[in-house]
Amino acid sequence: MSKIFNWGIIGLGKIAESFADDLKLLPEARLFAVASRSQQKAELFAKKFNAVLAYGCYENIVKNKDLDIIYIATPHSLHCENTIMCLNNKIAVLCEKPLAINSTEVKRMISCSEENNTFLMEALWTRFLPSVEKVLELLKKNVIGNIQLLRADFGFKAPKDKNNRLFNINLGGGSLLDVGIYPVFLSLLIMGMPSVIEATATIGPTEVDESCGITLKNNNGQIASLFSSIVARTGIEAEIIGDNGRILLHSEFYRPTILSIIRQDGSIETIEPHYIGKGFTYEAAEVMHCLKKGSIESKKMSHDLSLQLIEVLDKIRQKSGIYYPNHDNLKPA
Ligand SMILES: NC(=O)c1ccc[n+]([C@@H]2O[C@H](COP(=O)([O-])OP(=O)(O)OC[C@H]3O[C@@H](n4cnc5c(N)ncnc54)[C@H](OP(=O)(O)O)[C@@H]3O)[C@@H](O)[C@H]2O)c1
Repeated sequence: MSKIFNWGIIGLGKIAESFADDLKLLPEARLFAVASRSQQKAELFAKKFNAVLAYGCYENIVKNKDLDIIYIATPHSLHCENTIMCLNNKIAVLCEKPLAINSTEVKRMISCSEENNTFLMEALWTRFLPSVEKVLELLKKNVIGNIQLLRADFGFKAPKDKNNRLFNINLGGGSLLDVGIYPVFLSLLIMGMPSVIEATATIGPTEVDESCGITLKNNNGQIASLFSSIVARTGIEAEIIGDNGRILLHSEFYRPTILSIIRQDGSIETIEPHYIGKGFTYEAAEVMHCLKKGSIESKKMSHDLSLQLIEVLDKIRQKSGIYYPNHDNLKPA
């Protein structure tokens, strides 16, 4: 009989609910324990998603030796300390994106994973989606020739509520780390590390970046033009442009239901990827696959890839003046 993995969740907000819903679709997974800052909230969540145990504080869940994996779904500013607490208790971690606020924190988390010989992966769920696998396959087959350009955007209009973490500088709010990370990650995945990084941001009254514009260029001359926003809905599309055609990831590009290949002669082929659940099943399945092999990192979303991603985000922040005073040594000049 195959092993059933006992999952835990820390931080029972919006994404924790979506993730818990998707976990139900995986026969190898069961939601075993959840932890909130509030006992009552933990009990309600546990009841809704059939978790066995509910903890009213984060420190207690990690003492449970029956847990195999904890999914961390707290605001960005807590990812580092929450992850380190789990790893030091030898519990594998799937931590929400961005893995942390900056590369200093991410390096500490990776070292902690290595020292404890315990699995750590950033929950960059889009990496594992069938749509991304398909795009990578098309690019490998050279369907659009050599990539020249990428344009991608992710903007939405978030409620301007003082309780909303997106507008709270102390919780790592702002558009870049929340949604800009998706176009930046796509660029990294298909074009590799950029050698030129230009960026500008509009900083709002609560000191977070409300919108950000980014240009990246690598040593092969491939250029990405990217946008993020939490004050305006953008098209949420991505277009990969080669010297022999284009691949359009239709809205919303992070989980597209249509991909179009537009060839040089004008012909269009469409592909309709299908997803199991909301799409969080794939990252969860990857974690369990890695744990079965005894790996402490995923080959697809490796520690190095997470480090590269946060290093690019750090540089974008330095260029555009996005600064988290409680966390950073990245104060703009
Ligand atoms: N993969 C995705 O598609 C996706 C989508 C959205 C968000 N995310 C990521 O997931 C993380 C959480 O996002 P979310 O939208 O779920 O946020 P959210 O709804 O605000 O939930 C965050 C949870 O963190 C806990 N928390 C701990 N300290 C907190 C504090 N000081 N202030 C507020 N909450 C605190 C709370 O849980 P308790 O009250 O139970 O302790 C809260 O419910 C973020 O890092 C975000 O980037 C990922």
